Amino acid sequence: MDTTARTAVVTGANRGLGLELTRQLLEAGDHVVAACREPGRATALNELAGVHPGRLHVLPLDVADARSRAAFVAELPLVLEGRRVDLLVNNAGVLHAGERFGRLSEANLEHSFRVNAMGPLLLAEALEPLLADGARIANLSSQLGSIARCSRFGTPSYNISKAAQNMATALLAHALAGRGIAVVALHPGWVQTDMGGDQATQTAQESAAGLLRLVEGLDPGESGGFFDWRGQPLPW
Ligand SMILES: NC(=O)c1ccc[n+]([C@@H]2O[C@H](COP(=O)([O-])OP(=O)(O)OC[C@H]3O[C@@H](n4cnc5c(N)ncnc54)[C@H](OP(=O)(O)O)[C@@H]3O)[C@@H](O)[C@H]2O)c1
Repeated sequence: MDTTARTAVVTGANRGLGLELTRQLLEAGDHVVAACREPGRATALNELAGVHPGRLHVLPLDVADARSRAAFVAELPLVLEGRRVDLLVNNAGVLHAGERFGRLSEANLEHSFRVNAMGPLLLAEALEPLLADGARIANLSSQLGSIARCSRFGTPSYNISKAAQNMATALLAHALAGRGIAVVALHPGWVQTDMGGDQATQTAQESAAGLLRLVEGLDPGESGGFFDWRGQPLPW
């Protein structure tokens, strides 16, 4: 067993930023547990597993579902083979487009809260015993979750759930400080993925590289902070 390689868990890893983060972590020599809702249909991930034999495990996880989270946490030690998790990337996220004031949907609000806010918090809590001392937790947030930067009535389910996730980040930073585990909220920029769309200004490669650089260089004193992919602090 290679004892120098780090081990990362990435959620929502089958496409978009999660897939690119997984790809770059593997290229850096790390072990990756890539979690996604339907591993059987995760073609790109399964191809990556072939390119990096033994270093990529693809496990099922719906972050919004308590039973799925419990099954993931129970299965994870089997693929970790005694290792602990050095990096948890809570990447899975959902954005319900087209919301309008006067026509808000309780279902969209609830679903967004489950995926974007409850998922990262409850997964981090459940995985805590499997995290290494000094591990990092990167919560993929958004500048749209910044209350200070709120400039229009747009995507409320998303913005509210990311603001709630930001509070979860701040709380987790306190909960895990005793073990030297740094927890940060990260805005990846406007990224060319299914969520960001074709007009987005950055490629997933650029964003993922910036995010991983930031996480790598994190100072424990920066735990509980909110940063963009270039490492610039963002206002809450
Ligand atoms: N793209 C941007 O410009 C941008 C900007 C700011 C923040 N972000 C944040 O960055 C993260 C990644 O975004 P992205 O652009 O890569 O989005 P994306 O292309 O829409 O991909 C979203 C990923 O999340 C997964 N997911 C959704 N609901 C899930 C659930 N309940 N359980 C598990 N996985 C779930 C999706 O899985 P399925 O394939 O199964 O649906 C997919 O893998 C998100 O948290 C997003 O909010 C993105």
